[in-house]
Amino acid sequence: MSKEIMQKNIARAQAYIDQNKESVKQGRMRQDYHFMPQTGWINDPNGLIFYKGKYHIFYQYNPYYGHWDYMHWGHAVSEDLVHWEHLPLALAPSETYDDHYRGGCFSGSAIEHDGKLFLMYTGCTNNGSGFEQTQCIAFSEDGIHFEKYEGNPVLAAPEGVPKHLFRDPKVWKNDGKYYMICGASKNNLAQALLYVSEDMLHWEFFSVLAQSRGEWGYMWECPDFFPLGDKYVLLVSPMGAGERTCVYMVGDFSYETGKFVWDVSGEADWGFDFYAPQSFVDGKGRRLVIGWANAWDWMPFWKDWGPAYREGWCGSFAVPRQVKMNADHTLSFEPVEELETLRGEETVQENVLVEGGREDIPLQDGYAYELKMEVDLKETTASAFSLLLRCDQDRTRQTKITFDLKGQHMYFDRNQADGWSRGVSHSPLRLKEPGVFSVHIFVDTSSIEVFAEDYRTNHSCNVFADRSQDKNFLSVPAGNLKIRSMQTWSL
Ligand code: FRU
Repeated sequence: MSKEIMQKNIARAQAYIDQNKESVKQGRMRQDYHFMPQTGWINDPNGLIFYKGKYHIFYQYNPYYGHWDYMHWGHAVSEDLVHWEHLPLALAPSETYDDHYRGGCFSGSAIEHDGKLFLMYTGCTNNGSGFEQTQCIAFSEDGIHFEKYEGNPVLAAPEGVPKHLFRDPKVWKNDGKYYMICGASKNNLAQALLYVSEDMLHWEFFSVLAQSRGEWGYMWECPDFFPLGDKYVLLVSPMGAGERTCVYMVGDFSYETGKFVWDVSGEADWGFDFYAPQSFVDGKGRRLVIGWANAWDWMPFWKDWGPAYREGWCGSFAVPRQVKMNADHTLSFEPVEELETLRGEETVQENVLVEGGREDIPLQDGYAYELKMEVDLKETTASAFSLLLRCDQDRTRQTKITFDLKGQHMYFDRNQADGWSRGVSHSPLRLKEPGVFSVHIFVDTSSIEVFAEDYRTNHSCNVFADRSQDKNFLSVPAGNLKIRSMQTWSL
């Protein structure tokens, strides 16, 4: 019976998508090359897996309108991380544990087990006395059509953890056993709880893998945990930690104790619009992450639901990034090389000494492009420079990215971007010696992702500028800027 309810709910959603996708596609703010829903709203990437030679992404999805509501799991596949084919929805709310007022199939992950594709997700329901979250399983023989496990839910919140703060299982296999961490909260401090299973169906509590010491909020959404080099990485999206939307910790872990002890931490992204990234290893052995290009605390709800909502959709995924460890155990998040296949017309400039005192040095026009630049700090006397992107002709509309080389700060200012977006995201830079300062930028219709300092200091923010805002400038208020190279490509 319940199998039928899920199939009916999927068929209804699918019919809505088919009927509306052509009109939603006409939206002026739609991205050119970032992954987006065909209709409606997406948030977190879920169930990322390289399975039978293809990249699969699932995602938190409300197909019906550009606002969060009853969560389904959308599904798409790709052979190159750049071009995605939409598949039928994988999950829809249908059970008492995932289908009551404003509940649904919340975030989770995927793993291959027993020749099948398994999904582990959070069932969220509200029976009148508040939200209750439990961990649930679904599986598929063909990787497309899923069935929920009859023994669901497989895990309820442990003693002392509020029932509405127990979610987002991330599963992996080690030495013949399955492990899973999920986000939780105890005594108002965020936790990542570790569970273990022999068969993917029966789960036991193992340990509190890590806990906020107060600095990183009361709840960690979408925790992810993985080995990198000879270290382990915990990646979390904290609730209640102010502007810090996506934090990583690097340290040591033991399968004996189930404890993770970290000594290095940082931000995967400082921008307003990068949240809930999930990682996986692909066929080339790379540790990749895909993040949602929005974030709850900074959603621009100030005036209305926003430009995308009015077009019947909301949300896209940031460009896929490869996680790399630096010698000091900080992390770099580097856009995948497959994005180079999108490159069109190229412009190159090398060894240019830009004399300061100018705010309007024109760069290549464009609204969807890639820009890569290297500044030679030894020969640079300017204490700061800015890139003014997606401007109109007289720069009354502009997004200003400023690199304060002397004060060691970076700012992404979108207060004048589009008449609607707001906020300045801000981070330190960590230039030590005068060497080369690198900047790599991906611009699309409604997003700008800036990667600086060899991909260590990144800011991703949405900007709903009209496509006619395609002027780009360099500003060097004083001193000289020595550009070793600057390349742009239309995408
Ligand atoms: C993170 C999140 C998750 C939850 C999902 C619901 O963005 O709040 O914790 O599972 O979104 O859509």
